[in-house]
Amino acid sequence: MSTIRDVAKVAEVSVATVSRVLNNKGYVNEDTRKRVEAAIESLNYKPNAVARSLFKKQSKMIGLIVPDITNPFFPQLARAVEDVTNQLGYTLVLCNSDEDIIKEQKYIEALNQKYVDGFIVVTSTLKAEHIKDLKVPIVALDRPINSDTPTVSVNNYDGARNATKYLIDAGCQKIAHVRGPHNVLPADERYRGYLDEVKDLIWYRPELIINGNFNINKTKEVTKKLLTVHPDIDGIFAGNDLMAVGVIKAAEELGIRIPEQLSIIGFDGITLCETTSPELTTMAQPIYNIGSKAVQILVDLIENRQLEQKNYSFSVDLIERQSTRSR
Ligand code: RIB
Repeated sequence: MSTIRDVAKVAEVSVATVSRVLNNKGYVNEDTRKRVEAAIESLNYKPNAVARSLFKKQSKMIGLIVPDITNPFFPQLARAVEDVTNQLGYTLVLCNSDEDIIKEQKYIEALNQKYVDGFIVVTSTLKAEHIKDLKVPIVALDRPINSDTPTVSVNNYDGARNATKYLIDAGCQKIAHVRGPHNVLPADERYRGYLDEVKDLIWYRPELIINGNFNINKTKEVTKKLLTVHPDIDGIFAGNDLMAVGVIKAAEELGIRIPEQLSIIGFDGITLCETTSPELTTMAQPIYNIGSKAVQILVDLIENRQLEQKNYSFSVDLIERQSTRSR
């Protein structure tokens, strides 16, 4: 395989001149440029990506770190990030952190050494002190890191209030909430939205809030216990779609009919919701749009363009299906 030295020899120029032609940087007279380009073509020289990234300290790579690739929300988000990353001339490296700060820091360090050009991170653990020495731009997606870091997310609080209000308007007389993990801001905000909608209603009790940890099986177990103690619950707002699937499975095992006896609404809008039985009513996040926007912001920062806006909060949309009584 030809090297940059072979090209320099054939074109009778220095390696530095070949680099200037390859990187289109610095002055090269037209005849010399033509000789170098002819040598590159005749030798079928392919610049070594590692050498180029070492030379330019750029790799045209973007790192995406997500907390749980087994949750369909994140592969759908990664799909959007990858599409737009490629459209803008970059390649994507996908990392799964398991919400583990050590893993997150190891990925950032490893990709930094490969001269990744920027990061998009979904994290509830990375804090400002963990990224203060980062020399490349970072965008927080779905969950903020700090006020200095550009952030793309959705309005979880309003979405949760609308989900709960939907169940009230559908005639539900006692509504529970399956919340996600504590200290994960989207889960906390959805909990707050539910609470502000029901806290003054006569039937409200704190024990109507259970923690499903964004997980199907955990939710199935805790929901079965809840519905056994409170068989008069006729509506449940689940803080993400996987937990809503757990509620559906709990109702099935208890012989509770959906939506006649129990209405269920989720949050996320993952494609899986179209395959459950009954199909799930949910508050759908614009998953593709938030992923796309995060990449656009990051590439603007990588390519030193001024950001028109640093933070974006998208609204979520109600998708009515068969898991809720009609209003
Ligand atoms: O389902 C996974 C959840 O984690 C989603 O609701 C998303 O907003 C992220 O916070």
